[in-house]
Amino acid sequence: MGRFVITGTGTDIGKTVFAAGLTGLIGADYWKPVQTGISCDVHARFMQLSRNVPAPDVPYLPQPGSDAEFVARMTGARIHPEAVILPEPLSPHRAAELAGVTIDPDELVPPGADRLVIEGAGGVLVPVTRDLLSAELFARWDLPVILCATTGLGTISHTLTALESLRARGCRVHGVAFIGDDNPDNIATIAALGAIRVLGRLPRLAPLDADSLAAAMRAHFRAGDFQ
Ligand SMILES: Nc1ncnc2c1ncn2[C@@H]1O[C@H](COP(=O)(O)OP(=O)(O)O)[C@@H](O)[C@H]1O
Ligand SMILES: [Mg+2]
Repeated sequence: MGRFVITGTGTDIGKTVFAAGLTGLIGADYWKPVQTGISCDVHARFMQLSRNVPAPDVPYLPQPGSDAEFVARMTGARIHPEAVILPEPLSPHRAAELAGVTIDPDELVPPGADRLVIEGAGGVLVPVTRDLLSAELFARWDLPVILCATTGLGTISHTLTALESLRARGCRVHGVAFIGDDNPDNIATIAALGAIRVLGRLPRLAPLDADSLAAAMRAHFRAGDFQ
């Protein structure tokens, strides 16, 4: 159906850049359920407004510095508002506690778009709340999960560990998307030992802009792998 969850072996892996690229490649909408590290009163007001209006026709402008804003800038995709935005740059469970906010997992419901890219926070076992890990939330959604991983030293263990964790919690893993310089042995070793499909490898781009990202996605991934 073209609805995917993007997760990673950790934070700063390149999930947002890949998610932006995939959003553009398949013409999807984008949603980041929980954004941390951004202070935002406007978002709180927007969410209140949307709750009171059954079919809000209010265009959502992502907050400066947020992952959604990067995706919007790179692709012009439709951005669905985050369910929660928290100021501290921490794991969602802790950022919520410090903000005095309760994250209700039942309110983290993916929007109903036919094509949708959802970006999780950090890695696969990041707590959403003290009672719910990210991989458990993905399994509840029952959407295919794409694991982003780097290509360099350390990635074999990080990626195999993340795959095991996702599978142990009942996630359907669609494949691995690598980010970084080519490393054929690391990539082949992960594919074999993890029994997992390699979707492609996004090189480090300089400059990184809308055109270079769209061209690299077309060159290194197949839109047909994301149906
Ligand atoms: N393919 C790429 N080419 C160039 N820079 C990249 C690429 N992927 C990630 N980066 C940079 O690396 C940093 C972390 O990437 P990001 O996508 O924000 O990671 P994550 O979402 O996993 O935390 C950002 O500064 C981003 O611009
Ligand atoms: Mg990100």
